[in-house]
Amino acid sequence: MSRFDKLATEWDLKPARIKSALKTTRKIKEIIDIKDKDILDYGSGTGLVSFDFFKDARSIIAMDNSQGMLEELDRKTTQANITNIKTKLHDANTDSLPKKTFDLIVTAMTLHHIKQPANFIQNAVDALKDGGYLAISDLESEDGTFHSMGNDDVEHLGFDKEQIRGFFEDAGLELVYLERNEVVEKHRDFHIFLAVGKLV
Ligand SMILES: C[S@@+](CC[C@H](N)C(=O)[O-])C[C@H]1O[C@@H](n2cnc3c(N)ncnc32)[C@H](O)[C@@H]1O
Repeated sequence: MSRFDKLATEWDLKPARIKSALKTTRKIKEIIDIKDKDILDYGSGTGLVSFDFFKDARSIIAMDNSQGMLEELDRKTTQANITNIKTKLHDANTDSLPKKTFDLIVTAMTLHHIKQPANFIQNAVDALKDGGYLAISDLESEDGTFHSMGNDDVEHLGFDKEQIRGFFEDAGLELVYLERNEVVEKHRDFHIFLAVGKLV
């Protein structure tokens, strides 16, 4: 059982997590018109991103490698009678994505858990329809003290802007936005960036 399986039923109880996801979704909605779009919420967890998109989107697939997180998301959609969010168990380290399927792929606070981010970004780009967008929010480079439960499942201590620029360029994405989007206050401040790229 992963750390995220264990945390799933209490994930939404931390207001900071909801605030963080909403900071990401609100900024994305300023940049991209999500009306009637087919969206992939990658590393969806309990669906904090999906739940701010489903009213406008045509369809949302929430993928995650934590069965516990997806069960929690399914419980929430069933309870709220939401029919356009589906879940799929998927591991970025081993599984492939369908080609040319999504108008928008969003991944919030997940990239630093993925072993080979450049490969994942390339797979995500291949999963976009022409003109589609990839939006990534994640930690800026940190000193290894962000995760209070340790770094066992942490593959990268955040990313710097040049790395993100390089990933996007190598994958053939035009960078349309790259800014710090949030400051998380813990024993010190941690910074979260939002990067948005377009497949042109
Ligand atoms: C920090 S949580 C973020 C969840 C959600 N996006 C949010 O903002 O609340 C990271 C999520 O990525 C998932 N994850 C970690 N490694 C993964 C992988 N290799 N493939 C797919 N999902 C992964 C975890 O299970 C977890 O739900």
